Amino acid sequence: MRRACARLTVVDFKEYALSQLEPPPGRVLEVGCGHEGGIAPALAAAGYDVLAIDPAAPEGPLYRRVTLEELDDPRPFDAVVAGRVLHHVHPLGAALDKLAGLAPLLVLDEFAWNHMDEPTIDWYESQHRLLEAADRDPHGPHDIGHWREQHADLHPYETLRAEVDARYEERDFAWRPYFYRWLRGPASEALEAGLIAADAIRPIGFRYAGVRRETVRSPADER
Ligand SMILES: C[S@@+](CC[C@H](N)C(=O)[O-])C[C@H]1O[C@@H](n2cnc3c(N)ncnc32)[C@H](O)[C@@H]1O
Repeated sequence: MRRACARLTVVDFKEYALSQLEPPPGRVLEVGCGHEGGIAPALAAAGYDVLAIDPAAPEGPLYRRVTLEELDDPRPFDAVVAGRVLHHVHPLGAALDKLAGLAPLLVLDEFAWNHMDEPTIDWYESQHRLLEAADRDPHGPHDIGHWREQHADLHPYETLRAEVDARYEERDFAWRPYFYRWLRGPASEALEAGLIAADAIRPIGFRYAGVRRETVRSPADER
């Protein structure tokens, strides 16, 4: 039995983060905003005091080109948001210790890449071929097997969850589509969501919001 998506409405990460944050004013750290700048501008426009970090961050007053490990900011934050970042970060436990020390709320948009099963991969690769044949220039890899070989260092969902759960108590969680970001076809997200709802493919994206625990638990206790 597959795990069903609790919510399959199309809500982007910016809207999700805004739904989880306390109303402004507040100070928010975006970790791993990427070269496109992440959701920092939307959070700033909503009234938050935002700092967004990434070695590849764009120029601008919201951004600093540093890693989380290099970040040295004396003022506390009210929340940390991170989109598709933590599954890349090594060592993950130390990074989450730092995040939990910086702010009481963690809001994530993430990728359970290891949950791709055969029907899910078949669907993705066939969509990729269709979009390529239609000159839609899909963004993601055409061969998931090859992609997996090249990304062996990513944290699987269970590792990420155990490390997060050791430090935060879940306040909100939903499985959701992910491949649409790689496919970028006109109907990719709705199609992926529909197939997940029909239990034909697995959801490999998820959104999470958690509140810092008073005491850090061992990740082993969370498994
Ligand atoms: C898949 S991209 C996601 C970018 C953006 N958040 C988005 O959703 O489009 C992952 C980003 O995380 C950044 N990143 C990885 N490890 C990091 C770290 N330790 N500190 C800060 N940024 C990091 C990378 O530089 C990269 O830009």
